Amino acid sequence: MTLGIYIHWPFCRRICPYCDFNVRRWRGEEEAGLLGAICADIAEHGRRLGPQSLHSVHFGGGTPSMLTPQAIARILDCVTGTFGLEDAVEIGLEANPEDAGALPELVGAGINRLSLGVQALDDAALGQLGRGHTAYAALEAIDVAARTGARVSVDLIHSRPGQTLAAWEAELRRALRLEIEHLSAYQLTIEAGTPFAKAAGSGRLLPQDTEQAAQFYELTQALCAEAGFCGYEISNHAKGESARARHNLLYWRGDDWLGIGPGAHGRIALAGQRTATIAWRGLKDYIDAVAQAGIGWESTDALAAEAEGEEMLLMGLRLAEGVDVQRVERLLRRPLSSTGLMQSGLVHAVRPGRLALTLPGRLFADRIAVQLLASEAPVAL
Ligand SMILES: C[S@@+](CC[C@H](N)C(=O)[O-])C[C@H]1O[C@@H](n2cnc3c(N)ncnc32)[C@H](O)[C@@H]1O
Ligand code: SF4
Repeated sequence: MTLGIYIHWPFCRRICPYCDFNVRRWRGEEEAGLLGAICADIAEHGRRLGPQSLHSVHFGGGTPSMLTPQAIARILDCVTGTFGLEDAVEIGLEANPEDAGALPELVGAGINRLSLGVQALDDAALGQLGRGHTAYAALEAIDVAARTGARVSVDLIHSRPGQTLAAWEAELRRALRLEIEHLSAYQLTIEAGTPFAKAAGSGRLLPQDTEQAAQFYELTQALCAEAGFCGYEISNHAKGESARARHNLLYWRGDDWLGIGPGAHGRIALAGQRTATIAWRGLKDYIDAVAQAGIGWESTDALAAEAEGEEMLLMGLRLAEGVDVQRVERLLRRPLSSTGLMQSGLVHAVRPGRLALTLPGRLFADRIAVQLLASEAPVAL
């Protein structure tokens, strides 16, 4: 079994108007209690799971680059005191460009992959996204990150309101020339309940339509490929196999991970059954749960074989390497309806027994998954 740990650090200096992750403004007061709870949660999971080696440890958020190197070292001490580490273990951290100065010390504390939330390389766009850094500061942060010796990835958001294809081309070309081995290029999602959703609802913000977003996506794929970044997942591009995000591959390949910290999701085998776990979202609830029950779970949901097969299909289809059709069909106890989609050129067999989306198919990933799961004749997309 391949196992990783996701550690959620929920604090941010400011809350970006497009973001719906489990985050809150940092005021400092609960930090010590949360650190202790995270360590205790990890240790108790170790006791329950028995000896295991980790494939990856990922600090996500929120803004985990606000953690001090001492705090990172403390959590990693707890991880290594509890679990073994695989030889090529990835210890990743999502960093905001404002924390550039802290990156060398965070790497010194054990981080070996930095994922920088750049989002845009255009100051007006950064203002629109409510970010607390300029494009120049982001470029400096990438430079600092590259000099730490850690593997470096950059997150960008495209299809922003008012963004032109030409402007995105300039931003992306600039990013692809940087000293990075990995790029995540996400299409802006207007998440319900966010200030962006409110502004879109009242007409103050005009999201790009599906057709425009498809053009951004196709341009992204073409420019990344031209620069030698392989699109190994719908939104993720890597310079070679070793540069792929090993932790995220756990999610897409249906492997196991422990979700630690407020609101963290996980997937692990409990009593032989794949189980979806969710930790308490509230800080106090999470800290209290760890104090009382040893671990921070609010819910555990044993996935029926059908649900496990559907999830494996949805996640695995996102990968260029595709999904193992036999494994999915065994779980579903029925065949996938792929013939029509293959004839329409939306999915293809990467190699015998592995099904993936084609480039045009990537624009309709979710709808294609639904169609593969349906037993009737395919409908036009
Ligand atoms: C949970 S965030 C944490 C990263 C870090 N706090 C930062 O903001 O730089 C991870 C990534 O998700 C992406 N993201 C968050 N909300 C998004 C949205 N509504 N649409 C598209 N991408 C989004 C951003 O690219 C971000 O870097
Ligand atoms: S995008 Fe990052 S910095 Fe902004 S609110 Fe979300 S997690 Fe925090």
